[in-house]
Amino acid sequence: MNDEVIDVDSLRKESNWQPASWQAFEAKQQAHYPDQAALQAALDELSSLPPLVTSWEILSLKEQIAQAQAGERFFLQGGDCAESFAECNSDVITNRLKVLLQMSLALTHGLQKPVVRVGRFAGQYAKPRSSDVETRDGVTLPSYRGDLVNSVEFTAEARRPDPQRLIHGHAMSSMTMNFVRALVDGGFADLHHPEYWNLSWVKHSPLAEEFQRLADSLGRAVNFMETISGRRAGALKRVDFYTSHEALHLHYEQASTRQVPRQTGWFDLTTHFPWIGMRTADVDGAHVEYFRGIRNPVGIKIGPGADAVQVQKLLEILNPQSEPGRMVLIHRMGASRIEEKLPPLIRAVQDTGSPVLWVCDPMHGNTETTGSGIKTRRFRNIMSEMELAIELHHQNSSHLGGAHLELTGEDVTECTGGARNLDETDLERAYKSIVDPRLNYEQALELSMLIVSKFEKLA
Ligand code: PEP
Ligand code: CO
Repeated sequence: MNDEVIDVDSLRKESNWQPASWQAFEAKQQAHYPDQAALQAALDELSSLPPLVTSWEILSLKEQIAQAQAGERFFLQGGDCAESFAECNSDVITNRLKVLLQMSLALTHGLQKPVVRVGRFAGQYAKPRSSDVETRDGVTLPSYRGDLVNSVEFTAEARRPDPQRLIHGHAMSSMTMNFVRALVDGGFADLHHPEYWNLSWVKHSPLAEEFQRLADSLGRAVNFMETISGRRAGALKRVDFYTSHEALHLHYEQASTRQVPRQTGWFDLTTHFPWIGMRTADVDGAHVEYFRGIRNPVGIKIGPGADAVQVQKLLEILNPQSEPGRMVLIHRMGASRIEEKLPPLIRAVQDTGSPVLWVCDPMHGNTETTGSGIKTRRFRNIMSEMELAIELHHQNSSHLGGAHLELTGEDVTECTGGARNLDETDLERAYKSIVDPRLNYEQALELSMLIVSKFEKLA
């Protein structure tokens, strides 16, 4: 980037959008590669590799999001804050899938509508950071920016951005996708067998028992339907699962941005649903410019600093035709600020008449640090933001259409509270996240049940 003042509007008007157009805009949160030739070589290789998803899948997700905008579906997006290459393994992938399947079953059953399932996985490898550098004991090194860029260990070697990681990240995403697709298509998601989704480490949890009751009653309903109709309900054997990640690393996204036969326009084929993080959602920034030209449905994180004009401009730039299914606004205000911050934004969007899906991320506005320096979130605040979100949309003639969560199927203690009432001392027992604290299985399932009961109270 040079320091000249950029006239963004005229740049946008005169340019015919291309996957590289963003390079003329200010790109925040990008890695600084010491060897530009090595970066270019990696990007060239990346752009010749097969994509991770197809335009058909992307367009069918867009249709499902349009249905969620109309109130006919609920959108569930969840997974790790940051995936890591070291955890690209069978157990982590299946356990995360099990939690998401259990949650989506609880939501489908309770809300009486189908769920759009979107994993924060198969590419969630790049992270925004509050500072470019980190200093420990007088030594300053580049910050860890996710496994797509560098490695978390605090050594100069590990922290140097390595372009080969882009190729590796693509391969790891592809392995993750391949395994998820094989599980889902091979019968793992079969509604006749919700017992496949039990996590072996969960012993006698009251919530596991509650889920069991729900699954049993559903099983009886499925059997009844099949007996009456004399047919096995084949459609119940598989579900749609989509992928998502924060499209932060723009060179990486650009390398997989393609045109496809019999479709107009460009698709970001690294994932079905890319989103822009709160720190890079500037109207005049490179991320918004990149997203403007792709046909995927897109998410934008909206934090407490966003105002009505900014949100209206984002819709105007990213969805000028008011296309259904295109825009998902993910608000993450924090339990203490949502009542003040959200209603004006709901009204601002209503004034545009443009369709959006409102999703609540009750995680990122509720992060705090304990006295002993551990990053955590209180379940009570997460739940409270979620409940307030449902209520505030309802009061403002809008509706909350989904939840965006950080969760894992591993046995972790990273957020306090929940059914087992974890406290600060529990955090030391099984804190594994390298970035943000995630909900564990029980907390995630409890949250889905609370979402259901909050909607039931409003009805
Ligand atoms: C995230 O989703 O991990 C994240 C960094 O969120 P936000 O952009 O909302 O801060
Ligand atoms: Co996070």
